[in-house]
Amino acid sequence: MAFVKVAQRGEIKENGGKELNINGTRVALFYANGKYYAIEALCRHQDGSLAPGKIDGEVVECPLHSWHYNIRTGELLDYLEGVKLTTYKVDVRGNDIYIDV
Ligand code: FES
Repeated sequence: MAFVKVAQRGEIKENGGKELNINGTRVALFYANGKYYAIEALCRHQDGSLAPGKIDGEVVECPLHSWHYNIRTGELLDYLEGVKLTTYKVDVRGNDIYIDV
């Protein structure tokens, strides 16, 4: 576990996302509700990237077939019970955004 610098403030617009590749792990970094959230980037349905998904509050909608996940907990909100994407801690230091991978 170590914090890695992944982006800078202002790179991601409110309710926007960015896909990161951290040593081969694809992570979606979102900015919403004045906060940053980082979760596993790949949808459990057919591996769609969640980074370009539409955000509503704490919910992201997969751009491919509209499955929904909570971006704070990683939890899938429809279709299947008990599915959870990995979430990562985010730390903002000055202008830099770090996540714990
Ligand atoms: S790949 Fe995400 S809903 Fe199908």
